[in-house]
Amino acid sequence: MTTAVKAGAASTSDTPGPILRVESLTTSFRSGGAWHPAVRDVSFDLARHETLALVGESGCGKSMTALSIMGLVPKPAGRIAGGHIWFEGEDLTQLDDEAMRRIRGDRISMIFQEPMTSLNPVLTVGFQVAEALFYHRGMSGREADRMALDLLEQVKIPSARRRFADYPHQFSGGMRQRVMIAIALACRPQVLLADEPTTALDVTIQAEVLALLAELKTAYGMSMVFITHNLGVVAAIADRVAVMYAGEIVEIATVRELFRRPTHPYTELLMRSIPRVDRNIAELETIQGQVPSISAMPPGCRFAPRCPLREPRCEAAPPPLAGRSGHHVRCVVRAGA
Ligand SMILES: Nc1ncnc2c1ncn2[C@@H]1O[C@H](COP(=O)(O)OP(=O)(O)O)[C@@H](O)[C@H]1O
Ligand SMILES: [Mg+2]
Repeated sequence: MTTAVKAGAASTSDTPGPILRVESLTTSFRSGGAWHPAVRDVSFDLARHETLALVGESGCGKSMTALSIMGLVPKPAGRIAGGHIWFEGEDLTQLDDEAMRRIRGDRISMIFQEPMTSLNPVLTVGFQVAEALFYHRGMSGREADRMALDLLEQVKIPSARRRFADYPHQFSGGMRQRVMIAIALACRPQVLLADEPTTALDVTIQAEVLALLAELKTAYGMSMVFITHNLGVVAAIADRVAVMYAGEIVEIATVRELFRRPTHPYTELLMRSIPRVDRNIAELETIQGQVPSISAMPPGCRFAPRCPLREPRCEAAPPPLAGRSGHHVRCVVRAGA
């Protein structure tokens, strides 16, 4: 077998501009005989070597945005209903399944939200890392095993050689998440989508995995979309942040700017719900109410029913995402005043 190993780094400089451009993406699900957007008119650029965080409560459309990029929107209940996803000059929304399979796990990879369900319990961890290398690189078994071991060492699995033939249940949660990272990085992707990769872990392990991701991102020259519901971890990992609410981006800015001038009332509430060591958990402000369901969206601002700054005009029409110098906010009270 003589399939050449593609140099991951060499292909990253093919086209100028952002590595990924999501343009007016709308992803919908069918329920009760009608299609309802779970992601609505979402646009963002991901620059080369940049980490963009997608932040918001559960049910805001973060995972569905990532799954849309991966071509993994569950069919037939869901579909990409509009927009474009540009990656290296190609619109991923226009590719057929076979073309998408070639890109997925190779040039764009994802770390999924549930580490337990995304590892196969009956296959060894070593085999699961090697699998992507057989499939995308056409490597021989020995070559793939050697590289898989190298990857397990890069993600700092202690005694990786001895643990190569272990099964997922023999690993702790943190170690399983490292295996997931090794699988995602096996083919040296240009873009890594990390969906709440540390949420299930305790705080110390969470910090270690975040540090590892940041280190590997730099070493591999990747760009990353980092998904979390915790604005607190964003400062440690991201360059820019997009805050999502009810399927829409409600605020987007650099991390520095967002922490200095949080503008959307929802962003402010997220800021106040960041756990802090100097505050009692019981004092934490929780956000009242719930994210509306996709089939019952308020007609005006989607956050209005929960918003402390609500005015009659908020409920009259959906607010635009507006702003300047890269700081955009979807709020007529705050940004439009
Ligand atoms: N398979 C599905 N069928 C119908 N609706 C779905 C499905 N998956 C997700 N949704 C809807 O899409 C919305 C966004 O979900 P998701 O992207 O998973 O949110 P997040 O990752 O921010 O928690 C949710 O309101 C959910 O109801
Ligand atoms: Mg999710």
